[in-house]
Amino acid sequence: MPARPRGRIRERAPRPSSSPEVVFEGRGYWRGKISALEIGVDEEGIITQVGRNVRGGRRVDLGERLMLPSALDLHVHFRDPGPPGSPESFASGTKSAALGGISAVVDMPNTVPPTTTPERVIDKIARIQAHAQIDVIPFAALRPDTNVARLARVASGFKLYLAPTTGDLGVDTGTDVGELLREAAATGLPVHVHAEDPRKFNPRDQPRETDAWDRSRPEIAEISALEKLRDHPAGMRLHVAHVTSAGAARLARELGASSEATPHHLLLSTSLFGNSFQKVNPPLRAESTRKALWETFRDGLVPMVASDHAPHSLSLKEAPFPEAPSGMPGVETLFPLLLETVRRGDLELSRLIHAACRNPALHLDLPRGRLEKGCEANFLAVDFRVRRKIRAKDLSTLCGWTPFEGREAVFPLEHYLLGKRIVDDGEFVGGVRGRSLRVAPLLPKKSPHLPGSPPVRAP
Ligand code: DOR
Ligand code: ZN
Repeated sequence: MPARPRGRIRERAPRPSSSPEVVFEGRGYWRGKISALEIGVDEEGIITQVGRNVRGGRRVDLGERLMLPSALDLHVHFRDPGPPGSPESFASGTKSAALGGISAVVDMPNTVPPTTTPERVIDKIARIQAHAQIDVIPFAALRPDTNVARLARVASGFKLYLAPTTGDLGVDTGTDVGELLREAAATGLPVHVHAEDPRKFNPRDQPRETDAWDRSRPEIAEISALEKLRDHPAGMRLHVAHVTSAGAARLARELGASSEATPHHLLLSTSLFGNSFQKVNPPLRAESTRKALWETFRDGLVPMVASDHAPHSLSLKEAPFPEAPSGMPGVETLFPLLLETVRRGDLELSRLIHAACRNPALHLDLPRGRLEKGCEANFLAVDFRVRRKIRAKDLSTLCGWTPFEGREAVFPLEHYLLGKRIVDDGEFVGGVRGRSLRVAPLLPKKSPHLPGSPPVRAP
C-alpha cells in the first residue's frame, strides 16, 4: 500500500446532503477497490450517497465504463491575460483540461501582466467567470515587493519562484526566504515553490541540447533551493512544485513540505530527446534519475502529480535552443498518460487516484477528488480497453504540439462536472460552467474542518 502523504492533509467532514436527483450506475473506484457502484447526486451536483444500491432518482447506466474521480491539476500556466497571440486562454486551456479528465486547475501568476496585485487577481477571477469550462484556482506571486496580506483576501495561494524562468517573477538570490514564508504562512494559504537556486547554475557555455540544459541547471541547484525552505514556520501549507529527482522528493518530505512530480519528469529524460521542445525548467534529467523518480512516485513518496502545462507556441519553440522558451504543454495528457501506465501494470490505480485526485483536493481542502457522500460529483467514465495515440492535432491546447506525440494514452470517454456531462464519447459538450474557486485559509492549530471553498465573485 503506498504511503500516505504526511503533513496537513486531512479528510474533510462531508456536508449534509439530500436525496438524489440522478443515480449513476455501473462500476467504479470506491474506497481503494473497483466494484459495482451507484452514485446518487442531488440537483446541486453534490454526491448524496455511494454504494452498491442507491435508491431513487433518474438512472444513468454507464455500462462497462469505470467511474473514477476527475483530477485536480495543481500547476498550469494558461497565459490569460497574455500578450496578443498567446497560445492559450482560460477558454482553450479549460476545454483541454476537461478532455483530459481534469475538473480543476491551479493557475500560476506568471501571466502578462503578472498576478502581483489584488486588482490583477480580481481581473483574473472575472476572466475565469467569463470563459472557464472547468474550475480554476488563481494563485498570486509571493515576492518581497508584493502585498501578501492584501493578496490573500482574493487569491487562493502563492507561488514563490526562487529562480528566473518564464515571466521574470524569480526573487533575488539574497532574498530572506524564511521571512517571506513567515509572511505567507500567516495568511493560512498554500505556498507552492519553484525550487532552483541560480547560485548553483553553470552558465559557462550556451546549452544547445537538453543534456547540456540539465548540466546548466543541475539537480544540486534544486537541492540547494530546497535547503532555503528549512526555515519555514511549522504547520504552514508548503508545497514543492515539479521535483525532478528522488533526492529532491525525499528532502521535500523531510522538510515537512508536500510535493508534486510532472509527467514530463516522470516519463521523459535527456536520453530520449534533445531539441528545444524538451527545454523546460527545471530541466529533464538523465534516464537513471528519471527511473528513480518514477519509483519514488510509484511508491507514494511524491504525494501528487501536476502538469506544469506551459503552452509556448510552435514558432517560439522552433527557435534555436538558446533562444527557445522553457516549458511544455501537458494538462490534457497528464491523466490519460498515467492511466495508460496503470493499464500496463506499472502503477497502481489507487496510487494514481491519490496523486491526481484525492491528495491535491485535500491539500487545498476542497470537497472533490473522491467519490464520497458530501463531495462534488466531479467524475469520469473510463474504459481501459479504449486507448489512442496522443497526436497534437487532436488536442485542444492552442499551442499546437506535445512532447508526448505518438504515446499511447487512455482518455476519459465521459466527464461529469457537478453531475452534468461536459465530455461525451471523448467530445467536449460542456460550456462556461467553471467557477473561480477560493481556497479557504487554514491556520495551524485551528480546526481542520474550516468552512469549504465558496466560489469567489468578482465585485
Ligand atoms: O519551463 C517552465 N516554463 N518552467 C517554469 O517555471 C515556467 C514555465 C512557463 O510558464 O513557461
Ligand atoms: Zn510552472
